[in-house]
Amino acid sequence: MIILGIETSCDETALALIETREISGHEGKRLEYRIIQSLVHSQAELHSAYGGVFPTLAKREHSKNLVPLLDKILKDLPVSNKKHDSFSETLESIKKQYAEQNGDLIESLTHAHFLENIPQIDKIAVTEGPGLEPALWVGITFARILGELWNIPVIPVNHMEGHVVGSLLTNDKPYGAWQQLKELPLPAVALLISGGHTELIKIEENFKYSLLGQTRDDAVGEAFDKVARLLGLPYPGGPYISKLAHEAWEQKIISPIKLPRPMINSKDLNFSFSGLKTAVLYAVQEAQKNNTFDENFKKGLAHEFEQSVTEVLEFKLSQAIEDIGAQAVIIGGGVSANHVLRERFTKIGEKYDIPVLLPSPQVSGDNALMIALVVAMNNENQNNLLITAKEIRANGTKKITE
Ligand code: KG4
Ligand code: ZN
Repeated sequence: MIILGIETSCDETALALIETREISGHEGKRLEYRIIQSLVHSQAELHSAYGGVFPTLAKREHSKNLVPLLDKILKDLPVSNKKHDSFSETLESIKKQYAEQNGDLIESLTHAHFLENIPQIDKIAVTEGPGLEPALWVGITFARILGELWNIPVIPVNHMEGHVVGSLLTNDKPYGAWQQLKELPLPAVALLISGGHTELIKIEENFKYSLLGQTRDDAVGEAFDKVARLLGLPYPGGPYISKLAHEAWEQKIISPIKLPRPMINSKDLNFSFSGLKTAVLYAVQEAQKNNTFDENFKKGLAHEFEQSVTEVLEFKLSQAIEDIGAQAVIIGGGVSANHVLRERFTKIGEKYDIPVLLPSPQVSGDNALMIALVVAMNNENQNNLLITAKEIRANGTKKITE
């Protein structure tokens, strides 16, 4: 089965083609996959000027980028000899239907003659949420158009489930080679840490999800980004904070400020990072007043902030493992690119003697491979799905447990 994944929930326009097959062995069926291609076009630099993602700009950029990306990615698929019989008429009717909703996207279809060749794709997977609704709608509209034009089913996917299953991709072989997914013994704890989410989830048989805890205010990634801004660093700030923190460690710089470890003693599995950000704000204001807001101060504070986040996440993750008797941990979301966190999560696995599955660097951020994989893994359930492409709606606050 060949699946086209489409992801436009935030500031990355991403498309991927993945082929999957089921292999029967003595332990039952196993899913194998090969990546045909995965493309991610980041808008981060454009949004950087605004200090965060600017939804209207994201919508416009996704609308401009999807068609050229699709043209590029389809070149990696064997050409099918199927041509659309009434291509021009269908395209015209589609343009009329969606022109009002998204003029930029419709405009970009004008010279897209390559769409006339029907590719060998069995399903289209598209992110329906959570994320920025104007951005999500672009991907959904695009998926609907392709589904209608090529007569292919469109399946909605939860972005956060994408981050969970994305960590099952081994990605240790080149594109085109068949690979196996990592094994995930269940029950497992998933820790999702991204720009919009901080959640601990229990995963049971058949990938049934239930919420164990979540942030009450800011997400971890959001806290990294806000603290980065306070320190005068560009958006998205996570990697910059991480770099400064590493320099502090190398140069043995100790922060004169001790930051709180929010909710570490709360006895539940919830988080709160907004107070931590405020503590950083006060520390910065105080240093500015005293003329001590220099490079070393920033490095020390970045390190102390990263330590605080790490200790809180470590503590709550360990508690979740013990609470549910987890057989494994799976980490997902953009913040999982952080090296200190990756090291500490791995140590937790060693302590409890359970595997800790981390996303490979190419899928730690937003991508469409993980979106396509969700559809591949749920194949059997979807065949009975009654939802049609037209019923798919952007849902900015979609929960993984719904
Ligand atoms: O999952 P993601 O790519 O997008 C969302 O769905 O939000 O996550 C983006 C977040 C941003 O807040 C970014 O600053 C953070 O992940 N991030 C990091 C690192 N790399 C990205 N945070 C800490 N350390 C990093 N190395
Ligand atoms: Zn994400």
